[in-house]
Amino acid sequence: MQLQDILYTQGFGTRRVCAGLVQQGFVTIDGAVATDPSADVAVADGLRFTVQGTAWEYHEKAYLLLHKPAGTECSQKPSTWPSIYTLLPSPLRLRPNKGAVQGVQAIGRLDQDTTGLLLLTDDGQFIHRMGSPKHHVPKVYEVAVKHPLDDAQVQKLMAGVVLDDDPKPVRAAACEAVAPLHLRLTLTEGKYHQVKRMVAAVGNRVEALHRSQIGALTLPAELAPGQWRWLSAAEVEALRSAR
Ligand code: URA
Repeated sequence: MQLQDILYTQGFGTRRVCAGLVQQGFVTIDGAVATDPSADVAVADGLRFTVQGTAWEYHEKAYLLLHKPAGTECSQKPSTWPSIYTLLPSPLRLRPNKGAVQGVQAIGRLDQDTTGLLLLTDDGQFIHRMGSPKHHVPKVYEVAVKHPLDDAQVQKLMAGVVLDDDPKPVRAAACEAVAPLHLRLTLTEGKYHQVKRMVAAVGNRVEALHRSQIGALTLPAELAPGQWRWLSAAEVEALRSAR
């Protein structure tokens, strides 16, 4: 692939801007400054290059995980809090895409005050698959509750509770009182405010909410709130085949 096209697909600007970056000596590959925008470069996921001193990796499709901090909105156009998208480097937000939406998008949303594991991608099929109710990818939430938990609450969450907008009960796939004020809840669907509404439906209240796991993927301990990393090919594959 031509070097200018590599930069273009990765979100570094229009083809013209990308050609300019190369011509001005702002791009290095294997430590050497590249000068020809049309140079043919063997491209594969993980190819490393730098643009204006910033290290980058080529990824045909972007799959990433973000440790969402509290006080951020999962919207491109947030109403009150900063958008999670401001936590990502601009090429990830500007990657050209076939559809109308540019860049990566969050797969599902977490509330403003919820922290933890959030996946983002520019692969529309992957978003569809992960979001499909047929797919049933389990998501694990660590819930700090206001009142001490009892067996009856845990049993009700497992048996199913009715939420105001839906007569069909929603149930937890797994539910455990890890400590008197710490509930671990596994859900396979993602209704609006589902954890908060389920916990309220059994007479308790969510004080803090953190998503620790999606499928087999756990939030890496070394990833601080606000940080992101690429998913490995194996992690993407495991999520694709999770059920
Ligand atoms: N359930 C909620 O209530 N909020 C979230 O952010 C995620 C699940």
